[in-house]
Amino acid sequence: MFAARPALSTSRPRAGSALTGRAARTAAAALALAALVLTTGTAAADSGARPGAPGQGDPYFPLLGNGGYTVAHYDLDLGYDPAAKHLTGAAGITARAVQDLSRFDLDLSGLTVGRVRVDGRAAHWSRSGQELVVTPARPLRKGAAFRVDVAYAGVPEQITDPDGSPDGWIATDDGAFVAGEPQGAMSWFPSDNNPLDKASYSFRVTVPAGYTAVCNGVLDSQRTRGGRTTFRWRQDEPMASYLATATVGRFDVQRYRTASGVPVYNAVDPREAAGAAPALAKIPGILDWETKLFGPYPFAAAGAIVDDAHDVGYALETQTRPLYDRAPDVGTVVHEMAHQWFGDSVSLTSWQDIWLNEGFATYAEWLWEEQHGGATAQAAFDHYDALPASNGLWAFPSADPGSGADIFASPVYTRGAMTLQELRNAVGDRDFFTILRTWAREHRHGHGTTAEFTALSERVSGKHLGKLFTTWLYTAGKPAAS
Ligand code: ARG
Ligand code: ZN
Repeated sequence: MFAARPALSTSRPRAGSALTGRAARTAAAALALAALVLTTGTAAADSGARPGAPGQGDPYFPLLGNGGYTVAHYDLDLGYDPAAKHLTGAAGITARAVQDLSRFDLDLSGLTVGRVRVDGRAAHWSRSGQELVVTPARPLRKGAAFRVDVAYAGVPEQITDPDGSPDGWIATDDGAFVAGEPQGAMSWFPSDNNPLDKASYSFRVTVPAGYTAVCNGVLDSQRTRGGRTTFRWRQDEPMASYLATATVGRFDVQRYRTASGVPVYNAVDPREAAGAAPALAKIPGILDWETKLFGPYPFAAAGAIVDDAHDVGYALETQTRPLYDRAPDVGTVVHEMAHQWFGDSVSLTSWQDIWLNEGFATYAEWLWEEQHGGATAQAAFDHYDALPASNGLWAFPSADPGSGADIFASPVYTRGAMTLQELRNAVGDRDFFTILRTWAREHRHGHGTTAEFTALSERVSGKHLGKLFTTWLYTAGKPAAS
């Protein structure tokens, strides 16, 4: 697995060491030994470069993401054979070191790695669980831009999440349903698999003629030659790895522009087409309505992928182009499109804050009903508020799911939406919608935390909201009637 080993060189105590004389030499020897034993890139010990951390330390998913660098762009060149379920990949990753880096990790699960290059030179690599450990021939200096190329292949293995759901590259009878929240990106490409590190993407996906490969963003070209079709897609705005897709299937494709000029690309499994048609027809209307409520649409393209993959059991807000495991109803499309503002453009910094995604998208469904002749959001609130204290809805407070097993449970979605209804009641409609739009604008293409959202709510409304948020977001049990 290891290519040419770098030459060993003498180590010395780290700068700032208080040790002198004999003690320093002994320490130096110990350090040299430790460097020899602990690191594969021993040249690093000479420069003071350290390995990047194997994870970002998220309390729920400690190994997702990596330390020591940030990614600017992923260039993914994929080939998929639906019959053999076989994937070949070449990932070109443009990154920047944020520390002197002796080695760094990418997240990759399953598959077989063929070679790894850093800046065009063969790099040492090894694998340990979901970590692909890369040791460049020379340490990378803090601030340096670098490019990693990883060639890999194999039959992707889907991930099973702590809640039991399938995640990642999920093979279907005619291709693959490719979703990645929260972990699955690592089942089909190497990445810094954490929403903290967003990047732009380009995709080149080759499939047998007759199949369609649908990714995020704008379709640049589609060419068929020698019985195979290559689709090139481009996602220019920053995207979290979990929102990337390269879904493959036999799809009917629908393309048009909305009145406001957004290109829409819908790919629909013919077996779901009749069921999906009514909700898909509403996409331009939903886009306009959400733009009025939440502010400018954050992306250059829109659409939907409707697969026939009922075993998956969920839809995902894949950036620009949500992915449905069956024909969705209108509420589900409203939900996934609302995520484009809340979750996709404004990203999580910690999985514990998932209510900022799911509570908001659920509340968007309530607002849609309210403004389209259905029940008011208050009526939805009242309906859930009538559930007894023993109901699972009250199992934990919205902003404290406790572990990765509960990030998609009803206290995140429904109680999260109820929290927003309580906020709306406390500050009034005008301030409430100002808060939503300001949140989307100030954190556009970036990140947000629960603390930032509660602070913004107080800033816009001029009210003390500590008790409301503490009760709804952080206090166990069913909140008392307010
Ligand atoms: N974010 C998706 C939605 O609510 C749900 C994803 C569920 N994923 C999972 N691995 N259980 O729209
Ligand atoms: Zn959602």
